[in-house]
Amino acid sequence: MPEKKTFYITTPIYYPSGNMHIGHTYTTVAADTMKRFKQLTGYDAYMLTGTDEHGQKIEKKAAEEGVTPKAYVDRIVANTKELWKLMEVEYDDFIRTTDERHTVIVQKIFRQFYDQGDIYKSQYEGLYCTPCESFWTATQVVEKDGVKCCPDCGRPVEVTREESYFFRMSKYQDWLIDYIEQHPDFIQPQKRANEMINNFLKPGLQDLCVSRTSVKWGIPVDFDPEHSIYVWIDALSNYITALGYGTDHDELYRKYWPADVHLVGKEIVRFHTIYWPIMLHALGLPLPRQVFAHGWLLFGNDKMSKSKGNVVYPQPIVERYGADALRYYLMREMPFGADGNYTNEAFLTRMNSDLANDLGNLISRTVAMIEKYFDGAVQAPQALEPIDETLKAHALALPGLVEEQMNALQFSLALQEIWKVIGECNKYIDETQPWVLGRGEEGKARLSTVLYMLAECARFAAVLIAPFMPKTPERIFAQLGVTDEALKTWDSLATFGRLPAGTMVHKGEALFPRIDIKKDLALLSGEDEPAPEKKPEKAPKEAKKPEKKPQEIPEGCVSIDAFEKLSFRTAKVLSCEKVEKSDKLLSFKLDLGDETRTVLSGIAKAYPEPEKLVGRTLVLFANLAPRKIMGTLSQGMLLSALDEKTGALRLLTVDDADSVAPGSEIG
Ligand code: ME8
Ligand code: MG
Repeated sequence: MPEKKTFYITTPIYYPSGNMHIGHTYTTVAADTMKRFKQLTGYDAYMLTGTDEHGQKIEKKAAEEGVTPKAYVDRIVANTKELWKLMEVEYDDFIRTTDERHTVIVQKIFRQFYDQGDIYKSQYEGLYCTPCESFWTATQVVEKDGVKCCPDCGRPVEVTREESYFFRMSKYQDWLIDYIEQHPDFIQPQKRANEMINNFLKPGLQDLCVSRTSVKWGIPVDFDPEHSIYVWIDALSNYITALGYGTDHDELYRKYWPADVHLVGKEIVRFHTIYWPIMLHALGLPLPRQVFAHGWLLFGNDKMSKSKGNVVYPQPIVERYGADALRYYLMREMPFGADGNYTNEAFLTRMNSDLANDLGNLISRTVAMIEKYFDGAVQAPQALEPIDETLKAHALALPGLVEEQMNALQFSLALQEIWKVIGECNKYIDETQPWVLGRGEEGKARLSTVLYMLAECARFAAVLIAPFMPKTPERIFAQLGVTDEALKTWDSLATFGRLPAGTMVHKGEALFPRIDIKKDLALLSGEDEPAPEKKPEKAPKEAKKPEKKPQEIPEGCVSIDAFEKLSFRTAKVLSCEKVEKSDKLLSFKLDLGDETRTVLSGIAKAYPEPEKLVGRTLVLFANLAPRKIMGTLSQGMLLSALDEKTGALRLLTVDDADSVAPGSEIG
């Protein structure tokens, strides 16, 4: 047998600075869908995802929680893997930049660049956006009220100056312009290629700062360990370190590299189409065949993002409607490449129209009629009439049309093609009127054909949707009575009519029950925020209220009820001291009137004289589930303000504190 053709697809490796949301889910589901499609069409497909675990932001987050960076990311990585499982994502490998298989090769790559003269040491002075982990030049930043801000996210940047290693990007600029111009498929959509050429390459590439001495949470430069390898050389290399590049066991690298597609969000296309190709070229390695930049899931006009906190999590949606429904929505709603809003309303509307009505009804009507008129046995079709021939021709053309759209990563257009035929089937039912044919014996021959056509089209649909909706095809096959694996393959769609006469259908549950959109909207908006794990000390206020009508909650807002589940209380500091063996944690004893609590907070650096806090009245998030930190149970979280620009951290206090008793409810 000839070797299968390979297909290697990657997602970005995400920052585990917080739990992954529907934006990360979008890319990951797209990659999984594409991988499954390639497998279905006969490829040896391989999908890589993972996490990008180093850098200042993670260091900070871990400090806030009073845990080590590794412990912090371990927890997020575990949650991330759970989420991908929930979403039916079947990745082949999950790389973490803290894996030793990664760090040793990154050091080796860095050293090779240095030895070759691609990397040199100098002074860095620049403007840095911590949330985006990006450096900007004076001409790139935007000014807002006299403050220099990040051109990507609009938040203030900080000036940094330190000794750093630099990569001589400028040396490769002309080569790269040439390469991009000669490989029109390399950067997709095309307009992103134009942006790269016009905005970054033609004006002249700046050398890239590739190490920091101020960031400790990173891979050390092995010949100069004061320096940590900074962000992009570390992160981008994952696509080859995961395959064993640079080791004695690089079979996967030899098999799968160059990647067929790197899927990325449009904000990181620059790193993937400028720095990464230059790095690979400097290593003498072939470039990925394509970098595809998709658009953003927006929230209002803003990108949904972990650092802005305006996010939607997939879990409550999947728990209620299943992964297939959400996967379908994500791949169908917006053209791949464009931005779009996620709203629960659009999701529910699509579930009703596309899944419950179009697909669900086709299956349930077909199966019900075969049961009613033929005791559940699929009949052999008789001579086809023109309307049958047309439907058959459309079904047979479908695999080709879907493949063409999928090869261009046009998921939503591929689904549109499939749904056109599903829609045509439903119209075919209305036109052929099987319930009229079924009235007497004379209609039975024609009815056999009509129902055969529908059952066979349903089989086609089940095979074609498999990459998008991994669980639904088996549910359809069960109802259609298809057990032969050979009838579930892509190749089986080359012939219309492979479903054998005599196949016994079985009516089952509705694939996608119709949803009462108003009711479910109210339910979903109540679940936007994960509910606190512990019940509030005091009876929740909502319990006192009589039932009221669910009110429509705009996307991204929470209801007052959701807010009232959280308990914030004033807390008077009885004592405060540094936690032994930790340079970040302070341990507070707090007076809440009716009880005394112990709370740990990662703010020791900001308060070098903690005893001075005694007597102050602070703000406590009081019904946060208690957590054990370094052996002590911490019962709540003290609120503080963080200046992203300077890193200054200050506790929230209460105005005129003596006039409210300790433990007073805040709201
Ligand atoms: O950038 N809409 O990690 P990250 C669509 N570690 N996609 C979104 C999205 C949204 N609102 N939010 C996130 C990093 N994504 C680096 C990458 S790669 C060598 C290093 C998806 O956690 C999208 O794919 O910020 C985006 O590019 C990625 O998550 C950013 O994830
Ligand atoms: Mg980001």
